[in-house]
Amino acid sequence: MKLYIDSANLDEIRDLAWLVDGVTTNPSLVAREKVPFEETIARICELVDGPVSAEVMSLVADDMVREGRALARIHPNVVIKVPMTEEGMKAVQALSADKVRTNVTLVFSANQALVAAKCGASFVSPFVGRVDDVGGGGMDMVSDILDVLQNYVFPTEVIVASVRHPRHVFEAAALGAEIATVPHAILKQLFRHPLTDAGIERFLKDWKAAKPPASA
Ligand code: E4P
Repeated sequence: MKLYIDSANLDEIRDLAWLVDGVTTNPSLVAREKVPFEETIARICELVDGPVSAEVMSLVADDMVREGRALARIHPNVVIKVPMTEEGMKAVQALSADKVRTNVTLVFSANQALVAAKCGASFVSPFVGRVDDVGGGGMDMVSDILDVLQNYVFPTEVIVASVRHPRHVFEAAALGAEIATVPHAILKQLFRHPLTDAGIERFLKDWKAAKPPASA
């Protein structure tokens, strides 16, 4: 199970660069940082040695391909994030023919994931949180996608995205998803358990009570 950080914030990425296997960004996350897009992507690639997703903003295939090729020139680890549309899938086909890796984003059904995989997507990103937000079953969607993709030999890895809480990470791992992309605050929560904190406190207290003071 690979963990990516879902962030365009350099401080957050630097903080957990030692842990994560890759980075996903999206236009909303990049816009928040107020740093030119290409510069942000280049700096992220210096911090993390793994796939770094950068999203195209065009909606027409030829323009997406042009944009994607330019982004791919920033660093060999850049993966081109393409929205799950008909034009997007033409772009994914063209980019994968050029050996440029793609991450198909805004996936909300197993059929969308299947089409993306058939077009040569390296990654598909089902957005579990956004499905849960509207009362759906985000993890049921992931389970369906994994079932469908595992029936065939696709080069496509599933990135569980739009993660809202640690339970989503556990469920993604339990289902066998290859990757979860997780916001910084939720990655931090993965280390923690109240009984771990209480255990450390008790061990320290007992140790200090029994141990003779160190000699001067
Ligand atoms: C994934 O690649 C997206 O950047 C992200 O997970 C979207 O999450 P959100 O629904 O919290 O915006």
